[in-house]
Amino acid sequence: CTELSPMAPNTRGESMIAIKEYAARRRDLMSMMEPNSIAVVASAPEKVRSKDTYYPYKQDATFTYLCGFPEPSAVMVLIPGREQGEFLVFCREKDRLKETWDGFLHGPEGARDDYAADDAFPIIDIDEILPGLLEGRGRVYYDIGKDAEFDKHLMEWITNIRDQRARGAVPPGEFVDLGYYVNEMRLLKSAGEIKLMRRAGAISAGAHRRAMQASQPGLYEYQLQAEIEHEFAFHGATGPAYTSIVGGGRNGCILHYIENRCRLLDGDLVLIDAGCEYLDYAADITRTFPVNGHFSAPQAAVYDVVLAAQAEAFRSIAPGIAYNCANEATISVITQGLVDLGILDGDVDDLIARGAHREFYMHNAGHWLGMDVHDVGDYKVDKSWRDLEAGMVLTVEPGIYIAPDNLNVDQQWRGLAVRIEDNVVVTRNGCEQITADVPKERVEIERLMAS
Ligand code: GLY
Ligand code: MN
Ligand code: MN
Repeated sequence: CTELSPMAPNTRGESMIAIKEYAARRRDLMSMMEPNSIAVVASAPEKVRSKDTYYPYKQDATFTYLCGFPEPSAVMVLIPGREQGEFLVFCREKDRLKETWDGFLHGPEGARDDYAADDAFPIIDIDEILPGLLEGRGRVYYDIGKDAEFDKHLMEWITNIRDQRARGAVPPGEFVDLGYYVNEMRLLKSAGEIKLMRRAGAISAGAHRRAMQASQPGLYEYQLQAEIEHEFAFHGATGPAYTSIVGGGRNGCILHYIENRCRLLDGDLVLIDAGCEYLDYAADITRTFPVNGHFSAPQAAVYDVVLAAQAEAFRSIAPGIAYNCANEATISVITQGLVDLGILDGDVDDLIARGAHREFYMHNAGHWLGMDVHDVGDYKVDKSWRDLEAGMVLTVEPGIYIAPDNLNVDQQWRGLAVRIEDNVVVTRNGCEQITADVPKERVEIERLMAS
């Protein structure tokens, strides 16, 4: 293929993370590593889907973050201060026959030329070479327990070194969790990452607009899923960042509803939680709208409480504000709203204190977002909610879910489910919504659906 779209994943177009950014990440990581240490990162294994066919390959996120090399059967090694080269890659060799069947392989030459490895070797030589690199290092940084098969290999290499002790070999004495360092780095997004996340957000917003415009009673949930995922693919996204949720009516009350097989009924709401993955970065948007394009009075009442909760949460997102403030803001607005609607009864502060909202709002207001939809990074530091910092990206996703069999509430509320979810980047003095290009005010939704 000679004419790849400049936006196509896995090409080296303008829009991708630059090679020099990967180099800077490796430098940052190496500057945190102890002297005389080594980091070893394994590519993700391939996964069988059915007999001899495989799921589309997804590279290990740490591997991608540190070098962008996209192939399986690869290992990257960082050795700070090593004169002959600090960044080494083991990977599959080029193989004409294999490439005819399964596609392009970079080979060690490509790892050097295209990914800036100081040196690269065939993966089949790793048992010969890696023990020599591990020998004499004090510490090994790696993702302990992430891949049982790789843990086993690493232990075999270490055991081999131990067996050579009588000949003076020194096995590494300490193993350190690499994730601890890389995950903290990943939590703060660079300008290049934010650009990709804006694009993931824009494509996903377009997909939600398309679903709103396509909606009509009688369609099946999977048909709106198809509209959404068509839009992802059409704009060069890899695909959904997680299995799309399209829940009509009471199905919206099932938080992780992914069957998407039911018919969409006149008079029901439909809750769609779907976001694409674009050049390794996820978007995560939820919109809830009436299948027939018109909110009923009870639907509108619940919807407006959730929308107000989200607006209040945005006001609690800025550098220096604790991560959980946005969550607390949504709990306040939702509890007050449920009391106003007569769904909860009592003093709002008492209800909040005893978590009465949990029956109707049983998840938190959001999570970190990045290369993983539920991205890495701690939420608490020393047992306290951490403060937000510019460059963090998170979702804001309050919801109200009223179980269809909840006999304690008036019948008009039963089976209603509303979630509204957007993605924000923490900026210097607040936050920027990167998924705003799909309506969420009721009148705007109704206008788009009528157009
Ligand atoms: N789509 C999963 C979530 O919203 O967390
Ligand atoms: Mn979501
Ligand atoms: Mn989410």
